[in-house]
Amino acid sequence: MKIAHLSDLHLLDLAGVSASRLYLNKRLTGMVNLRMKREHKHRPAVLEALIDDLRAGAVDHVIVSGDLTNLALDEEFALARRVLDRLALPAEALTVVPGNHDLYTRGAARSERFAKHFGPNIASDLPTPEGLRYPFVRLRGPAAIVGLSTAVPRLPLVASGHLGAAQFEALKALLEHPEVKARTPVVVAHHPVVNPTRTMARLLRGWHDADPVRELLTRGRPVTLSLHGHLHHRGQAALHGDAGETLHVLGATSASLLDPRPGRMGAYNLYELSDDGRLAGARARVWSPAEGAVVDAPSLGPSAVWHG
Ligand SMILES: [Fe+2]
Ligand SMILES: [Fe+2]
Repeated sequence: MKIAHLSDLHLLDLAGVSASRLYLNKRLTGMVNLRMKREHKHRPAVLEALIDDLRAGAVDHVIVSGDLTNLALDEEFALARRVLDRLALPAEALTVVPGNHDLYTRGAARSERFAKHFGPNIASDLPTPEGLRYPFVRLRGPAAIVGLSTAVPRLPLVASGHLGAAQFEALKALLEHPEVKARTPVVVAHHPVVNPTRTMARLLRGWHDADPVRELLTRGRPVTLSLHGHLHHRGQAALHGDAGETLHVLGATSASLLDPRPGRMGAYNLYELSDDGRLAGARARVWSPAEGAVVDAPSLGPSAVWHG
């Protein structure tokens, strides 16, 4: 089974956004931050080239690990929908989870804007507990693709994630379901399941209740995949449980990023799952500004999860 993983599209569409909607709220801070740090680096053309490349390749499933938008505006979600619709995939073959930018404000969270635009892509094959959209699961070949939401509205400039007890308990139960146990869990969350070592970085950008999730995913089955975005840096790491279990931590960079530093340039990851559910390969397709084309990267390179 071939899975493509892209992340952090950070689509921006300010057309039709009035100044009053930006004035004196979190979006203003976001806009200033965006202008200073982001706008010159995220390029829609890089994302377009990757989407074209992905269309040409034969993959069984595409996963997008959050931060589809910048400010969680309806206009941005509609744009993200249009961009992903270009993949011409049925909803069953495209899975998305929200990132911190997709629940940027309490209003975006309250109105469930993400689910409004991406409902068919977060539909679960098994019932979710009453009142919860996450975790959902999609049973596909040797994979049980599990979507989590670590996105919560935060104060300006805080990008940290939180899963919460209800999702955690539901995840624990889901991993025990016979249909899931018979497959390799491919668990998708925007934030990496391994936190930065520096306290301040963890508080500002980390996944605050990641530790028990990592414990859970590292025990009890031979192979588990944990897919994330958020770092704008691609890379791969493996954690091992006491009984020889392997948790593959797989990060995708931002699919719109123009950044020459190693592991950061706009790309998507490609994973090959064998019929018996092992990770048989992990590589990337990367935008090359020099060649004006998307080229092969034979490996993902080292993970950035333990830095910062
Ligand atoms: Fe991001
Ligand atoms: Fe993020």
